[in-house]
Amino acid sequence: MSSNPQNLSGNEIRALFLDFYAQRGHQILPSASLVPEDPTVLLTIAGMLPFKPIFLGQRTPEFKRATTSQKCIRTNDIENVGRTKRHHTFFEMLGNFSFGDYFKEQAIAWGWELSTKVFGFSPQNLVVSVFEEDDEAFGIWRDQIGVPAARIKRMGADDNFWVSGPTGPCGPCSEIYYDFHPERGDENIDLEDDSRFIEFYNLVFMQYNRDVSGSLTPLQNQNIDTGMGLERMAQILQKVANNFETDLIFPIIQTAAQIAGLDYHSSDEKTKISLKVIGDHVRSVVHMIADEIRASNVGRGYVLRRLIRRVVRHGRLIGISGEFTTKVAETAIALSESAYPNVRRREAAIMAELQREESNFLRTLERGEKLLEEIIEGVKQQGKTAISGESAFTLYDTYGFPLELTQEIAEENHLTVDEVGFNAEMQKQVERAKAAHETIDLTVQGSLDKLAEHIHSTEFIGYTQAAATAKVEVLLVGGVSQEAAEAGTEVQIVLNTTPFYAESGGQIGDRGYISGDGILVRVEDVKKESDFFVHFGRIERGTLRVGDTVTAQIDSACRRRAQANHTATHLLQAALKKIVDNGISQAGSLVSFDRLRFDFNCPRGLTAEEVQQVEEQVNTWIAEAHSAKIEVLPLAEAKARGAVAMFGEKYGEEVRVIDFPAVSMELCGGTHVSNTAEIGVFKIISEAGVASGVRRIEAVSGPAILDYLNVRDKVVKDLCDRFKVKPEEVPERITTLQTELRNSQKQVEGLKSQLAIAKSDSLLQTSASIGEFKIIVAQLEDVDAESLKSAAERLLQKIAIGAVVLGSVPEAGKVSIVAAFSPEVNKKGLQAGKFVGAIAKICGGGGGGRPNLAQAGGKDASKLPEALETALNELRSTLS
Ligand code: SER
Repeated sequence: MSSNPQNLSGNEIRALFLDFYAQRGHQILPSASLVPEDPTVLLTIAGMLPFKPIFLGQRTPEFKRATTSQKCIRTNDIENVGRTKRHHTFFEMLGNFSFGDYFKEQAIAWGWELSTKVFGFSPQNLVVSVFEEDDEAFGIWRDQIGVPAARIKRMGADDNFWVSGPTGPCGPCSEIYYDFHPERGDENIDLEDDSRFIEFYNLVFMQYNRDVSGSLTPLQNQNIDTGMGLERMAQILQKVANNFETDLIFPIIQTAAQIAGLDYHSSDEKTKISLKVIGDHVRSVVHMIADEIRASNVGRGYVLRRLIRRVVRHGRLIGISGEFTTKVAETAIALSESAYPNVRRREAAIMAELQREESNFLRTLERGEKLLEEIIEGVKQQGKTAISGESAFTLYDTYGFPLELTQEIAEENHLTVDEVGFNAEMQKQVERAKAAHETIDLTVQGSLDKLAEHIHSTEFIGYTQAAATAKVEVLLVGGVSQEAAEAGTEVQIVLNTTPFYAESGGQIGDRGYISGDGILVRVEDVKKESDFFVHFGRIERGTLRVGDTVTAQIDSACRRRAQANHTATHLLQAALKKIVDNGISQAGSLVSFDRLRFDFNCPRGLTAEEVQQVEEQVNTWIAEAHSAKIEVLPLAEAKARGAVAMFGEKYGEEVRVIDFPAVSMELCGGTHVSNTAEIGVFKIISEAGVASGVRRIEAVSGPAILDYLNVRDKVVKDLCDRFKVKPEEVPERITTLQTELRNSQKQVEGLKSQLAIAKSDSLLQTSASIGEFKIIVAQLEDVDAESLKSAAERLLQKIAIGAVVLGSVPEAGKVSIVAAFSPEVNKKGLQAGKFVGAIAKICGGGGGGRPNLAQAGGKDASKLPEALETALNELRSTLS
């Protein structure tokens, strides 16, 4: 461990943290996805989130100690991003976790050791806070660590009682702050003063569970959850003014500045804010898309859309007119890929999503700009100097045209904008939103509830019917309620009744069409918002209106695929329980048209044999043609009959039971085949761990198997064609080729060495003479240690009296040096062994050997010329 390391890069800080805790028995786990398994939050907001079931005693941890670097997104303070030194949407939280293992004392001791010894913070620069009632933590800091009492601040529950949400695991916490100005003294320490203090490490003593009524019950275990902000650490250690100027974010800002033709440091405050917003949001966007979130008008999809639009908008504010988001995203990917390789793997998806969203938004903005031109024209003609609040609001509301942009363009035309009027319109809008046809903020799940007074919840008839006559109840365009929409528009439609299954229980929403008189809407997804089924689609033909009577028709081929995969998921769970362990329980699932994914709690990986047996069992049940018995029963009765429920899932009084008697019985709202024989065949593609104690099986079944086989078959055919062999001969053929390749490589190596030795003869001409001695010191290309030795011996033989020192870099990161001295040189007091050992040190290595012939190695190839130079000087001065 070094002391007071200066200017560590973000990557180095992350590695030092993980390494410190790995050395103290913590398992390093990969960052979990930004899409949490926890249904109470939209996005992963803290490092502890993936471990919540462990803290709550719902899952047994595989390790008692873990350490992670977790990507997180918080959007509650989005307006502050760029305006303060350290508000972000995206950030990385470094954490160490104890699951019922070490507690307060140890966590504090390590927190201090890490801060002072590894990151080299001087104790004078540190201040800590504790929860006001936590005398124990106060005592540990003062008596065991030696922090002066004046530098330990007691804080209230708002600051120092950490809760993961309204309910859930929680506990008192203790935070470590960096003090930029210890010279200001201990008298008036105000931790809120961000010109002096920055909190960088939060230690949570996770020991309670808070229920809906707000009361605390002790958890089964006393746990530790900590969070260190990587960006903040980088700010302190890199000695920059704010988090945005660290190496984790600044290159993105520079890319954006370059596109805009700006220099960040000489820009005004407003421009800097826009650049910082871009730098921050692009990181969120890249990681969200990498974690398979797509822009939409609901839930996390809407968060993504909003972030992308803010990037585009701030781009325009600093003078970028064309599309630019993919260019800044490229920088963000390059910065993150070593820690999060999935951003590079998902590069194509990231770029495609950005391009689509950006160009759509730009088109809207362009339409707004045209309107603004007309408005300006009108204002000028009337001899006025201000654009009305009403007009500015229309631009904002209908065209997503931000006020700042309207103001800027107005300014260019020597006009102002009536901001008071704008705000009044905004207020009216909020009031109007209480009425039926309103702008609906779909970010909050269930926001369509507001409409509940005016329309009925959707009746779902899709268990038995593939088509229905229905009425259009609500029509949304970009989240805004409309009376009508035309061909070419992306819309969200709520019908009074529908055969479309809405995404839930892991099964994706149906695809299909909504059609009417001259109208055709292609439905691309269906999601449930409380009691409403929202159909996401695009109007292909005609004009759709609220109140229209339409036919809703699902794509039955897609539905059949989803059904096969869904029933196969149930059979898979039953087979895992039967063959591997009856205690296995579902942790999550995905049922789509082309594959299925089943996550389950299991402390170990499956053997290849178990995987095969599970697959065989499922296929046996398929072949046995079991019929489904689907019933709606009271929950208690369903459980009494032994139906499998998902842990942690909330069920109503009445539940739907999918029963394949004697095979599988599960509570499930999904759609299923009526007989297992319809599935046809089932194939497991992979089995792997996804989080501690959670395994994932990916499989295909039914018609989707053909797609899978076609891809594999094409690869095999291609290999057979190239190698001119039968499929079963491919592996052997490849083994033969690999052996041949290895042999050839060896031959090449040998030949290269021989060549080098032959070439080394020419070194004779370069030998220097000092009295009776001849000296040869030289570097050879790519020669391995053995050949280097032969070459040195051969040269020494030829010069007879003298010294030969040869060096080479046989492979990257490896240096070889050989010294061969004649007895006359030894008599002068030079021993080849000692000599070569000393020279090799320069290259970060060492070695030795006999007085007449010795060999050494090193690591730093860049130092070889310097090492040889030293050898030459040494020989010259000793032998002359
Ligand atoms: N959960 C705590 C936080 O988010 C510590 O990791 O600050």
